[in-house]
Amino acid sequence: MLPTITWENEAVVMIDQRKLPQKEVYLSLKSVDEVAQAIEKMVIRGAPAIGLAAAYGLALAIYQIKDEKHLDKTFEAAYERLWRTRPTARNLFWALERMKKVFIRNRKGGLEALKDRLLTEARRMDEEDLAINMRMGEYGQKLISDGDTVLTHCNAGGLATAGYGTALGVIRAAVAHGKKIKVLADETRPLLQGARLTCWELQREGIPVTLITDNMAGYLMKKGEISLVVVGADRIALNGDTANKIGTYSVAVLAREHRLPFYVAAPFSTFDFSLKTGEGIPIEERQPDEVRKIGSKLITLADVPVRNPAFDVTPARLISGIITERGVLRPPLGPAIKKFAGN
Ligand code: MRU
Repeated sequence: MLPTITWENEAVVMIDQRKLPQKEVYLSLKSVDEVAQAIEKMVIRGAPAIGLAAAYGLALAIYQIKDEKHLDKTFEAAYERLWRTRPTARNLFWALERMKKVFIRNRKGGLEALKDRLLTEARRMDEEDLAINMRMGEYGQKLISDGDTVLTHCNAGGLATAGYGTALGVIRAAVAHGKKIKVLADETRPLLQGARLTCWELQREGIPVTLITDNMAGYLMKKGEISLVVVGADRIALNGDTANKIGTYSVAVLAREHRLPFYVAAPFSTFDFSLKTGEGIPIEERQPDEVRKIGSKLITLADVPVRNPAFDVTPARLISGIITERGVLRPPLGPAIKKFAGN
């Protein structure tokens, strides 16, 4: 299993995803601000993984308290700091809200007991995420046939979760069922999560993966070299509109043109039941230098104006199904999601 994030010796330990695949470096973070910066700088990224980082970050905040009278203030400050790190992935806010409930229920029971409760909750979320991914994998693998070539975008793998993956969990499960499949990984500019992380994850497990640049998918679909698309998600609205890594929408449009199934794999914690449509999903705009550079190398003019939206929204009508831990939601997605929300 991939060592995305863990708790060791009163510190939050995570693999530095910016350094992969060249180097496997682990960071031991000892303050809430370090955890918040790790999320902002994408040391850790991927919707469920940043939720877990925030949960451990809140436990860390309470572990560092020396005097109980600072309890409420410290928790509130840590909560606010983590809340502001990245705006799009619903899982971040879902995790913070869940931890807050535990804090409120236990804040009067003594500092030591509270530390224990918060850490236990963060660890529970970590374990649950792994189990959820594996269940999603089981449901999702049924959509993949022996011999298929699956296109995926960004990294919705173990590194983006507690360790198995959403979209890559579906692929892993298909392989575990003995299906001989191939994966095409979009490189995913600007930060190359597909090239750096998805290829690394799949190759180390011996799952055949071929890297393509983001502009090659249409050509390969037209040539009949892609059977279906499976991607992850950062936030899903009530009608099924889905925010995911920038470029996902273009892939969905291409899949529709070529009559290929386009699936999203996402757990309950990615759904935003307060949003009617994807219109309301906040889209993060990141630093222009991420586009001007590849790694640290400038590839254009140092001052050329740049747009850098980190996510886009794929309309529900382009989605063939959403693979969740409770089964595959099928169109019409609106009613299917309402039922899912109520369960
Ligand atoms: O900007 P990132 O790398 O955090 O974006 C991640 C993605 O878009 C993933 O595909 C998404 O979070 C699904 S992860 C299970």
